[in-house]
Amino acid sequence: MSSSLRVAVVGLGYVGLPLAVTLARHFPTLGLDISTARIAELQRGHDRTDEVAPATLRASTLKLSADPAAIAGFDLYIVTVPTPVDAANEPDLRPVLSACRTVGEAIRPGAVVVFESTVYPGVTEDICGPELERVSGLKCGVDFFLGYSPERINPGDREHTVDTITKVVAGQTAEVTRMLAAVYGKVTRGGVFEAASIRVAEAAKVIENAQRDINIAFINEVTMIFQNLGISIHDVLEASATKWNFLNFKPGLVGGHCIGVDPFYLARCAIDHGHHPEIVLAGRRINDGMGRWIADRISAKLADNARILVLGLTFKENVPDLRNSKVVDVIRALREAGHRVDVHDPLADPAEAAHEYGETLMPSLDGAGGYDCVVGAVPHAPYAAFTAEAFAALLAPGGLVADIKGMWRGVALPPGLRGWQL
Ligand SMILES: NC(=O)c1ccc[n+]([C@@H]2O[C@H](COP(=O)([O-])OP(=O)(O)OC[C@H]3O[C@@H](n4cnc5c(N)ncnc54)[C@H](O)[C@@H]3O)[C@@H](O)[C@H]2O)c1
Repeated sequence: MSSSLRVAVVGLGYVGLPLAVTLARHFPTLGLDISTARIAELQRGHDRTDEVAPATLRASTLKLSADPAAIAGFDLYIVTVPTPVDAANEPDLRPVLSACRTVGEAIRPGAVVVFESTVYPGVTEDICGPELERVSGLKCGVDFFLGYSPERINPGDREHTVDTITKVVAGQTAEVTRMLAAVYGKVTRGGVFEAASIRVAEAAKVIENAQRDINIAFINEVTMIFQNLGISIHDVLEASATKWNFLNFKPGLVGGHCIGVDPFYLARCAIDHGHHPEIVLAGRRINDGMGRWIADRISAKLADNARILVLGLTFKENVPDLRNSKVVDVIRALREAGHRVDVHDPLADPAEAAHEYGETLMPSLDGAGGYDCVVGAVPHAPYAAFTAEAFAALLAPGGLVADIKGMWRGVALPPGLRGWQL
């Protein structure tokens, strides 16, 4: 693969930025983002997603632009824009289509356009290809070519990174597949897998995440059963996990941009092709109902109008990512039950929390105390390190420590405090 291949990465978020920085080590690479604020912060060497360190960003040869004209005439385009769902949980392909229009204006004959955004089988060839054709006036499969390569990275995961994971690739032709295998082969030490087709690569990604969602839903369902029996799922899992082939998923809130969203893409595709997906949608229902179920269990242990401190708002531990956080469901249900709720999260951006959820985050826990309940919602490292003294300071006598993630299972609570866990 010629190192003079010019690569444009469209969408510089959690996925696009690490990929673009890694590609820039091997190819002349430009990153385009629709957000001028995002480009400005990256130009200052700051990545708010915390996926690329400031020194790495500053040392990178990656060029950055918010101007669509900057990507004209590149050889390879990689699209890494969001694929959310709308209020009705239907796939929202507007960002992908908007990126197609931007790339469509920019491509010249011979270009390859690869999508990394998570979609359902058929989106690349049946929706993106025609849009690229319409805008560019070029013929797909003749003048330009499509590819798909799903992204598997995981926010905050420092082990499975863009340069270590196995990359699945598929091109519109065997030649394009080989070209993508060569490009991504330079990027990752984890090897490249050539999928049978673009549809197969799209399907592979969407079921990876749907499978996680369903497995977690099963654990959430048995969590509910065992609560009625008065036993903790965490105790049960410790015992079950001693079997060699037990799948040790943990219960909890399923948020974020991927696991709670992608199954709806699979469901839409299934319904469009005449199959009603039972397990996929049941998993979604169970996991989406988990926040309210947890809030109801906690509320049942409290007097009316309790003062509650919720620790953690991001969708998972040790990341600043607030997208689709289900902690919000817990907070809202507690408030609906008549309680007063304060929220703290040392990683979340206060402005984003206010904008997305209308939550005013506590600036710090200094001086906080007198709560009737502390809810451990997200096991950020500082919370996981709490000792008995921290609970003694935060809670009023008789207060309840509600541990959603089982992070305080090893902590002996001070006398007079009560504990509850899933
Ligand atoms: N976050 C993850 O860990 C992860 C993992 C695997 C796959 N994915 C998939 O990767 C895709 C991207 O996810 P993400 O988490 O990086 O999203 P993100 O929201 O972090 O980043 C997307 C970026 O694209 C930009 N953008 C949106 N529309 C654009 C357009 N038309 N032109 C140029 N830029 C545009 C946004 O400004 C934003 O900076 C999604 O399909 C997601 O499902 C994400």
